Amino acid sequence: MPVAQTKSISFFLGKIEEELIAVDTPSKPENLYNPVKYALSKGGKRIRPLLVLLGCEWFGKSWEKAIKPALAVEMLHNFTLVHDDVMDDAPLRRKQATVFKKYGSNAALLSGDVMLVKAYKLVSQCPEKNLKKILDTFSYMALKVCEGQQMDMDFETSNSVSVQDYLQMIRLKTAEMLAGSLKLGALCAGAEDVQSETIYEAGINLGIAFQLMDDYLDAFGNPEKFGKQKGGDIIANKKTFLYLKSLQLASPKQKEELELLFSNSKNFAGKIEKTLSFYSELNIEKESMLLIRTYHQKANELLDSLNGNNETKEILNSLAEKLLSREQ
Ligand code: IPE
Ligand code: IPE
Ligand code: MG
Ligand code: MG
Ligand code: MG
Repeated sequence: MPVAQTKSISFFLGKIEEELIAVDTPSKPENLYNPVKYALSKGGKRIRPLLVLLGCEWFGKSWEKAIKPALAVEMLHNFTLVHDDVMDDAPLRRKQATVFKKYGSNAALLSGDVMLVKAYKLVSQCPEKNLKKILDTFSYMALKVCEGQQMDMDFETSNSVSVQDYLQMIRLKTAEMLAGSLKLGALCAGAEDVQSETIYEAGINLGIAFQLMDDYLDAFGNPEKFGKQKGGDIIANKKTFLYLKSLQLASPKQKEELELLFSNSKNFAGKIEKTLSFYSELNIEKESMLLIRTYHQKANELLDSLNGNNETKEILNSLAEKLLSREQ
């Protein structure tokens, strides 16, 4: 008799890796498909597909029902990353050269496009029953990422971004995809609308906390572990919470100096160090952690209000803990 396997984060991660490898990727033209393979095989955390599978198990159905949208979401995510690195001029991701640094910008654009198409091919393989809702949810999140990404770029050259604007931008570029992932899982399990909306709202809060943490690690993380260029957001004049909250807390003189650091060319000697020393003087790490905790708590409250499979609840709780205390 087969032994029932305990489901855990590593169990689901194993399934995701197995299934991702099985997604057919042709070998030619090599300059198109090698970057796709490179992007998909380089050690991402696979959070979004995990959320899809957990969203499904939460409502009592087995993960297999949600595997296609799970793979689709990881494909969509990697498409956004490959294009994001071109937009952010980022040299490193997952401790390796980014796709555009390794293969060139044209290859990055086109291989990104391929992943978007592949994502749609996968998501359209869901069972007929909820397909319309699943496709709508998927398209919605894909569109929101693009809207958020445009805002992120626009903010680089704007001096009138508020913390509220920033939170709206990260909701779009990041949280919508995490939230949509949980919702896709719920839809695959046939959850009622009110339930899939609640798990989606929890995902929005988790996603905002997640991007706040990403921005925190960009400035304060250990680049060896984080795997991206340290201070990349500072170089790019990104209007992160760290920067915007610093402006709020700064003295008039500090404010002027900080604005000057972000008003000139993107990178110059001492820019990162000087910005980081402002952040430290203003105790911005603490402010950022507090806000992360607030969104995390909100996510937990929403999840607690939902009836669900207890085992899955525990897994999701520990995943959230891990994501918000990560170094990677
Ligand atoms: C990176 O996402 C982009 C953000 C939304 C911060 P992840 O941190 O989930 O990237 P991988 O897939 O694990 O590398
Ligand atoms: C991008 O945010 C989120 C996406 C939608 C790709 P970042 O630009 O901060 O993501 P990283 O830090 O490059 O992974
Ligand atoms: Mg980036
Ligand atoms: Mg970006
Ligand atoms: Mg980042």
